[in-house]
Amino acid sequence: MQKLIGSKKVKTAVFISGTGSNLKNLIKFSKTKKSPILIDLIISNTNKAKGLIYADIFNIKKKILNFKSNKNAEEKILLITKKNKINLICLAGFMKILSQNFINKFNGKIINIHPSLLPKYKGLNTHEKAIKNKDKFSGCTVHFVTKKLDSGKIIMQKKVKITKNENPNSLAKKILKQEHRLYPAAIIKIFN
Ligand code: GRF
Repeated sequence: MQKLIGSKKVKTAVFISGTGSNLKNLIKFSKTKKSPILIDLIISNTNKAKGLIYADIFNIKKKILNFKSNKNAEEKILLITKKNKINLICLAGFMKILSQNFINKFNGKIINIHPSLLPKYKGLNTHEKAIKNKDKFSGCTVHFVTKKLDSGKIIMQKKVKITKNENPNSLAKKILKQEHRLYPAAIIKIFN
């Protein structure tokens, strides 16, 4: 990734579809001195995303796009991100798959957080799968986004122990807590 020039932070957009706990956490991180990024834009594919509230709370621009046509939505996103000089996209619970064209146009500067130890359990229901398979560990991964779902180069991972009587909810909670530590650490790593 590019080196930081002086103390200028990299303008970043976060894409969400849901609760936005990672978004909130990244916003808080971005306000710290050690953060190489500044969150300047929030994008969602639905106005039902609870996390959109953080746009108001932290006074950050938000844009909701209708993904009925992915192509249209992506074209609009490219325009908005260009206009806002966005240089990094962080996906955080974003439930749409971006096209190769979009990823190329963004020069590979898109990262994602996924709630499993990739390459295990790509896609949805990762916690159910880990428990069903009687895995001893699960965790989370921050990786670069490529066209192939959850398959881009891994930046960082964090392991979490699966205890006896674990259920998908308890595991999700445990992992989410680690996600909030991992995402900022991975962002620092890619700029070093
Ligand atoms: C997280 O578990 C993330 O790994 C996955 O979706 C969830 C989003 O949670 N991609 P939140 O909206 O950030 O709270």
